[in-house]
Amino acid sequence: MTHALPPERISVTDPLDLATLPADFTWGVATSAYQIEGAVAEDGRAPSIWDTFCRVPGAIAGGDTGDVACDHYHRWREDITLMKELGVTAYRFSIAWPRVVPGGDGAVNKAGLGFYDRLVDALLEAGITPNATLYHWDLPQALQDRGGWPVRETAEHFAAYVSAAASALGDRVRHWATLNEPLCSAWIGHLEGTMAPGLTDITAAVRASYHLLLGHGLAAQAVRAAAPGAEIGIVNNLSTVEPASDSEADLTAARRMDGHTNRWWLDPVHGRGFPADMREVYGVELPERPGDLDTIAQPLDWLGLNYYFPMVVADDPEGPRPFARQIRRGGVPRTGMDWEVDAGGLEALLMRLTDEYGARRLYVTENGSAYPDTVGPDGAVEDPERVRYLEEHLAACARAAAKGAPLAGYYAWSLLDNFEWAYGYDKRFGLVHVDYATQKRTVKSSGRRYAEIIGIHRSPTPGSV
Ligand code: FCB
Repeated sequence: MTHALPPERISVTDPLDLATLPADFTWGVATSAYQIEGAVAEDGRAPSIWDTFCRVPGAIAGGDTGDVACDHYHRWREDITLMKELGVTAYRFSIAWPRVVPGGDGAVNKAGLGFYDRLVDALLEAGITPNATLYHWDLPQALQDRGGWPVRETAEHFAAYVSAAASALGDRVRHWATLNEPLCSAWIGHLEGTMAPGLTDITAAVRASYHLLLGHGLAAQAVRAAAPGAEIGIVNNLSTVEPASDSEADLTAARRMDGHTNRWWLDPVHGRGFPADMREVYGVELPERPGDLDTIAQPLDWLGLNYYFPMVVADDPEGPRPFARQIRRGGVPRTGMDWEVDAGGLEALLMRLTDEYGARRLYVTENGSAYPDTVGPDGAVEDPERVRYLEEHLAACARAAAKGAPLAGYYAWSLLDNFEWAYGYDKRFGLVHVDYATQKRTVKSSGRRYAEIIGIHRSPTPGSV
């Protein structure tokens, strides 16, 4: 493995030892379409399941919607300028299916594709590598009306939309992710019901999970066909899972939660099929057809890990599947989401993907923290907790790389404060603060720190930042 800088060169200017990260390490920021774009009815975009879900009384904190969000659809040039200021080398964004194929299947909307076309050109001109995610939860409502992810046709329509997107952009976009966090689409959207489409039905959830992964495989094939040389991956949110006690009941609950959160999403993609123990826990017949498992297990170029928090779980025989309840551990630092801060979990998951799944190239495709940031009287936004969170998690990346994890990059979630799904605009994850009344952007101290870290790691001369 190549080493960017010998340790003493980093330590000249910075206590963070990132010398084990490769010299060509990708330094990125991530966003997603519905969370930042706004302009939900412009240039032929049709509603997605999130537009619908935002109208369900009580579904979103404060009754917020993504109608305007960060108005990125109109302010994207300014946002690229911000990325340049941060010095990032890559930008992970998502393409909105309801802009490109508003009906879900059928006609491709040139005007919708045009937005991403201009965005990609401007990114490349700014020296920033585009990394496009094809599905970040915004299913066209028209397809939900025909059954959504619980029906097989949705996976097939997904592949057709992906083919259109990759044909239009694949001459310039090399890095593609099929799905973002299918766990959230399936489990939170169809079982827990706190995300679109808001169902609480184990059969729908398991069928959705199956068709999401089938859609992933079909989409990977579609990108390969449309864009030779593309580098394709899938983005999963994983967690470490610890039992709340050493009782047999809690130990097996932790094993079930690990299956639900991690193995169900990793095993099929790695050619291992769906975990047998979890099939039993769910008790739902999979809508399998011959050949599907091969489709799902397409060879990939990279794996994306979104990491936010560890899980501590106890047995919960009366609760919903997987009959395991998350315990809130006391005396540990927490973010504004009430998520436990544990950078060691990121290191552990990177090692697990390396050792247990034989990953050849890994990216941290999201990692970040929400805190209640405010603009000070001098106009500055100071967010020392997020600075610390960022540093601790980058240090965890460096430790994993030192132990042999093939980690090629890190994308901070998020470039901007944005629409945080069911939490609305209440939770701020950005390195850049957004005043939603004026759309004014202010780089937070965490953004400045990220820029500094990137500068130090990329600098050929020690002490030049
Ligand atoms: C992830 C999502 C992303 C964002 C962060 C905080 O689960 O992929 O859209 O909401 O959480």
